[in-house]
Amino acid sequence: MGRVISAGVIAAVVLGGLSACAPQRSKYADNTASPTSTSSVTPTPTPTPTPTPTPAAFNKSQYSITNASSLWVVVNKLRPLNPINYSPTDIVTVPVAHDNPAQMAKPAADALVQMFATGAADGAGQMQIQSSWRPYPTQVSVYNGWVASLGKAQADRQSARPGYSEHQTGLAVDISTLPLKCSLAACFGTTPQGVWLAANAYRFGFILRYPQGLENITGYEYEPWHFRYVGVALATEMHKEGVQTLEQFFGLPAAPNYAN
Ligand code: DAL
Ligand code: ZN
Repeated sequence: MGRVISAGVIAAVVLGGLSACAPQRSKYADNTASPTSTSSVTPTPTPTPTPTPTPAAFNKSQYSITNASSLWVVVNKLRPLNPINYSPTDIVTVPVAHDNPAQMAKPAADALVQMFATGAADGAGQMQIQSSWRPYPTQVSVYNGWVASLGKAQADRQSARPGYSEHQTGLAVDISTLPLKCSLAACFGTTPQGVWLAANAYRFGFILRYPQGLENITGYEYEPWHFRYVGVALATEMHKEGVQTLEQFFGLPAAPNYAN
């Protein structure tokens, strides 16, 4: 009804000027219907304001960061796997190019297939697995090999001790170009594949786990080839918040060194 009156008032203003209808405006300003109104303007329903939805806060406790089989397990020099020789139960062969055995936990394997295909379709070039799941005994060989060639101090900056490697969970992968260029070297980060991965891996649930300049937090030198699957939700949230490491995201102590 108020809309009818308003339309009548507007018409009066247009036809007769504001001063002529001023008393009517005053009289009917309380939304009482005008007994003399003859307007036939159809009332327009008052639009109901749409409440702005509040985005739900990201639930950081959705998955365990301690359980070895958890998608979000945080493994670093202060957080060994439990048990130390943990072995996942969902390892599958990953159907992508590989320079070494291609085996990962099923969700990570599926995501990697999609990521390689999308990268190639985007023009980033071919990618392959350089190293993927490494069971405890394999990590023993890998770590001891680095210690033999580099000495313990330098080996500890680039290779995890057995029981402390993300590769043991089946959720981590070292990626190289196909054909091989800058394999397991810092310059991988400047290859088209490395650049594309750094910008897009989160869309597939992977994070670049050892970013440049954060060795004081992660315990490892820059590894632009090492990606850790954490699922799309967490990877996207970290990207959105601009947080690069799991330690920072979950408020965990920095892990530059082993406890002993
Ligand atoms: N290169 C990483 C730190 C590993 O050995 O798991
Ligand atoms: Zn790695």
